[in-house]
Amino acid sequence: MTLLFASTFDDPSPWLAEITRALPALETRIYPDVGERADIRYALVWKPEPGLLASLPNLEVIFSLGAGVDALLVDPTLPPGVPLVRMVDHGLTEGMTEYVVLHVLAWHRQLHAYRSQQGESRWRPRAELLARERTVGILGMGTLGSDAAAALATLRFPVLGWSRTPKSVPGVQAFAGGSATEAGLGEMLPRCDILVNLLPLTPATLGILNRRLFAALPRGAYLINAARGGHLVEDDLLAALDAGQIAGATLDVFHREPLPPDHPFWHHPKVVVTPHTASVTHARTAAAAVIDGIRRHRAGQPLVNLVDRTRGY
Ligand code: NAP
Ligand code: GLV
Repeated sequence: MTLLFASTFDDPSPWLAEITRALPALETRIYPDVGERADIRYALVWKPEPGLLASLPNLEVIFSLGAGVDALLVDPTLPPGVPLVRMVDHGLTEGMTEYVVLHVLAWHRQLHAYRSQQGESRWRPRAELLARERTVGILGMGTLGSDAAAALATLRFPVLGWSRTPKSVPGVQAFAGGSATEAGLGEMLPRCDILVNLLPLTPATLGILNRRLFAALPRGAYLINAARGGHLVEDDLLAALDAGQIAGATLDVFHREPLPPDHPFWHHPKVVVTPHTASVTHARTAAAAVIDGIRRHRAGQPLVNLVDRTRGY
């Protein structure tokens, strides 16, 4: 019984230490030292080389190191019959909620404007709103969106949440619909002073942060994209920023990562860039989910957090 760890972005050591401590009978290998491919029963991966998983003839479960599995699903060779488990972990959820609260508050309390005034030694008090006077909309009310929405509601922001199926989160008004052209999103957007994207990237959500969506927001709204670069039409955002329709944007994810050095987002005065670190999967909290999944699978119990490949998340 062997597990293959395949990620060029994550240090395998803490993962394999946690996993072998809990499951000492499990042999572990680290890509590219795959060894005899027929031995591999479990794969723990982030952006593996296309075709790698298809080359493992006895693979029983694929565990994703990330919550989002879009990069796996675009591999046409992904073995169709092998269950795919996405990452759900309290550390990942808490990290994302911290990021969302941080950037919502930064725009709400005009931190970036004060930073630039400070650069000019300029003492200029600005008109401030209370949280209860600024509405936050969340696209995607899943594991991450629901937790962030609940935290914002406790800070007294009016919070609106959009998902495919309506969600019941205390203090959060639910809107539902599976596409941007349905009424649910159309009703929500004109009320969102700050819009946070936490959707999975699927054919239905690709390019959803576009000119039409920006035009539906109140003038001077803020955008926080912590989901995937593919959600955003970058030129549409640049145009909306230049026109003042969007007053500022925090972007953690991009079409090309790392963001190329000559990309206009780097030096745009209304854009805050973070390097896909909104929330990071840490072995110290998240290895437990992989260990639990392998135990369940060995015991013939149903796996949890399975990806529905037809839905795409
Ligand atoms: P999740 O639990 O699967 O939640 C996804 C949410 O999006 C659900 O509420 C779902 O609706 C909704 N949704 C999906 N397709 C939709 C559509 N077409 N229309 C409306 N709503 C739709 O996912 P999660 O764990 O919260 O993670 C969300 C995403 O965050 C990941 O896919 C990943 O891309 C991103 N992420 C980014 C980072 C980072 O560091 N930047 C870290 C972790 C995750 P239902 O509830 O009705 O199914
Ligand atoms: C990170 O981007 C993730 O999907 O967990």
